[in-house]
Amino acid sequence: MFDSGVGGLTVLHECLVSLPEEDFVYLGDTAMFPYGTRDPEQLRERIRAIATLLLDDGAKLLVIACNTATSIGVEVAREVAGERGVEVVPVVEPQAEIAAAITDNARVGVLATPNTVESGAYRRALEGQGRALEVTEVEAPDLAPFIQDGSHFDRGVVEMTRTYCAPLKRAEVDTLILGCTHYPLVAPMLQRILGRDVRLVSGGHAVAAAAQRTLVSAGLARAVDGEGEYRFLCSGDVDSFRELGTRFLQMPLGEIERIEIVPADYP
Ligand code: DGL
Repeated sequence: MFDSGVGGLTVLHECLVSLPEEDFVYLGDTAMFPYGTRDPEQLRERIRAIATLLLDDGAKLLVIACNTATSIGVEVAREVAGERGVEVVPVVEPQAEIAAAITDNARVGVLATPNTVESGAYRRALEGQGRALEVTEVEAPDLAPFIQDGSHFDRGVVEMTRTYCAPLKRAEVDTLILGCTHYPLVAPMLQRILGRDVRLVSGGHAVAAAAQRTLVSAGLARAVDGEGEYRFLCSGDVDSFRELGTRFLQMPLGEIERIEIVPADYP
């Protein structure tokens, strides 16, 4: 499983709840953070390298715990994994299915990184749900970096988030897709700004369910009682990853292996 940082831990958490007996390797590509504003072509090469690294490590399933990586590079990941007969579980589609199913007024919002919005991945996924939906997409370039920095909440960040939410309120969406795996970590702030009647759709739960289905149907699910193991790899500063990851995941991360990813980090 991989993400550009700690956001994918919201997906890992759900997978640990649904599939406690499995072993997990989580790669945080923090040296390349943020994916949301990187050049898409560079990102695809990075995703190719990460998929290869995790498959070399023995992964039997590849979970893309990052909406930006899914939107920009799911095909690359599928190509690399497909060569080894390994399936890929991405984040975008499962959320679109849930949002289309639960909206009452057919007005769905998407809050995501610039790369995710510009890719059109959610718009396509929502259009494919067979329901006439009014979709309002908002780019939030500074929200994931705020979370990844572990910064304190101050008036500035609340005002910034209010600005991102304003078009969603104007459009009267009753369902908001948190189109970045970092955003569930600030769900309380979003819920306060948007109000109780707006349903927030995170990716983690649906992705965990999709991972479970995929493992079971491929005959790869682990049939033992008890808890599996988990490990962390990180391309950037290990100490800040540990500090933030422990806080968000609420469990000790253990030893974190610092890894180099080729192609190397871009300025
Ligand atoms: N968790 C990533 C995503 O889902 C974070 C965004 C970023 O790296 O900019 O999009």
